[in-house]
Amino acid sequence: MKLSSAWAASALLFASTGLATDPLTADKVEADINTVELQRVLYSLNQIAKKNGGTRAFGTPGYKASVDFILERAQTRFARQMDTFVQPFNWTYDETLQIAVTGPEGEDVFVISPQYNAATPLPGGITAQLINTPVNDETGSMCLAEQWEGIDATGKLALVKRGICAVSDKLRFAKQHGALGVILYNQTPGTVYATPTLGAENIGQIVPVGIIPLEVGQAWIARLTAGQPVTATLLVDAIAEERETWNVISETKEGDPNKVIMLGAHLDSVQEGPGINDDGSGTAGILEIMGSVKKYKGFPHKIRFAWWAAEESGLVGSLHYAENLAPAEADKIKYYFNYDMIGSPVPKYEISSYENSGIGPQLLEDYLVSNGRPVEYAEFDGRSDYVGFVELGIPATALFTGAEAPWDACYHQACDDLDNIDLEALTVNTKAAARALATLAHSLDGVPPRAVTTPNLRGRSKMSHQFKRWAALADHASHGHMCSHGKKEVV
Ligand SMILES: *[C@@H]1O[C@H](CO)[C@@H](O)[C@H](O)[C@H]1NC(C)=O
Repeated sequence: MKLSSAWAASALLFASTGLATDPLTADKVEADINTVELQRVLYSLNQIAKKNGGTRAFGTPGYKASVDFILERAQTRFARQMDTFVQPFNWTYDETLQIAVTGPEGEDVFVISPQYNAATPLPGGITAQLINTPVNDETGSMCLAEQWEGIDATGKLALVKRGICAVSDKLRFAKQHGALGVILYNQTPGTVYATPTLGAENIGQIVPVGIIPLEVGQAWIARLTAGQPVTATLLVDAIAEERETWNVISETKEGDPNKVIMLGAHLDSVQEGPGINDDGSGTAGILEIMGSVKKYKGFPHKIRFAWWAAEESGLVGSLHYAENLAPAEADKIKYYFNYDMIGSPVPKYEISSYENSGIGPQLLEDYLVSNGRPVEYAEFDGRSDYVGFVELGIPATALFTGAEAPWDACYHQACDDLDNIDLEALTVNTKAAARALATLAHSLDGVPPRAVTTPNLRGRSKMSHQFKRWAALADHASHGHMCSHGKKEVV
């Protein structure tokens, strides 16, 4: 044992002194990125999910194992080149253990549960008559106080149409008007629909809800309209509790600590699946870039990698990080690149930005276009981990290959697995990211200063106010369709 560890230590010393003077260039990091290694990372993440109930979500053992996987490289294998720290915080974990809706003939109805659903009494659930409520496809149904005027839902289950406005608003008004629960019928036909989140902040203020198909809702409305009472049962067994989670931050020892180029990807998946495209792709991409840059020296700016926790619960980890940066620390971050979903099976190449993005989008575009990838541009919409950085005025850009069909039909589902990746897209995007990083690690030409508007005033309330504004803009932009990226905005 002793012999082999002495040998390993000298081999490591040799390796680090042998390579350490090699200067970092865009060509070298680009060449270091290869499909086989990216695929290995995705394989490992998929194995982690498989061994942990099919998920790597916040608050689950699969997330903890994902953190350990990153640390095995950042903290253990790359300890000589990287400084790594784990940033812990607590957030509300929720899980629906069981949900059921039983119709008037005792039939089981297809139903899904949103994140942060409230529990019904157990074991029987709530059995009550349904009360129909008005539909408004312009503003959304039952989200405004005036829509509830004159409605007494006391002791009833309110039948409400989904869509356009926040589900949590519908549920809060329902509670205020005496409803025991809400049966929410979907706004599009069929049984394939996205899972909304009600937000941890609404716990205690809402009634339990089950989301059923449009067709079933319409059939019940027809009976109610004809004057026939309809009785249904809603059963929700859900837990909500504080759990600890962790951002992983790792930065090169090399480079000026006052000039930091940062790359981020989220490490958690949704509860429904292993999250191989969302966001195993970005996780693998920046991990492989780290494996390349740690081989080199001779770059003036420090490079910092972040793997964010609880993105799927509302960008929680990245907002936590950004909110806790002192203004002087925020000033040191010269650029932030976000990589969330960069290997969609039918990829688009969407570069998003805002007015303070500077040269970042151009660097990504140059490489993608010269490799035959058609690039699209989008404004930041508040749906991924750049939000906290943008709020601080830090120059930032993001690359994204699309969520939901036609780009990723397995978005937020169990089938977001090893078959749900375009490896060529992932490779070219990672190479683009690597080149852009290497360029800024040498020069800040074309990078604007941080847009500081209100220093020292960046508390939680301001951040969440801003976040809500972004979310509202995103909802508006998507016209209520179920095409949101972060779960936060699915209504
Ligand atoms: C999370 O909550 C637990 C239990 O209250 C506490 O022991 C722990 O210190 C908290 N962790 C953080 C990072 O605040």
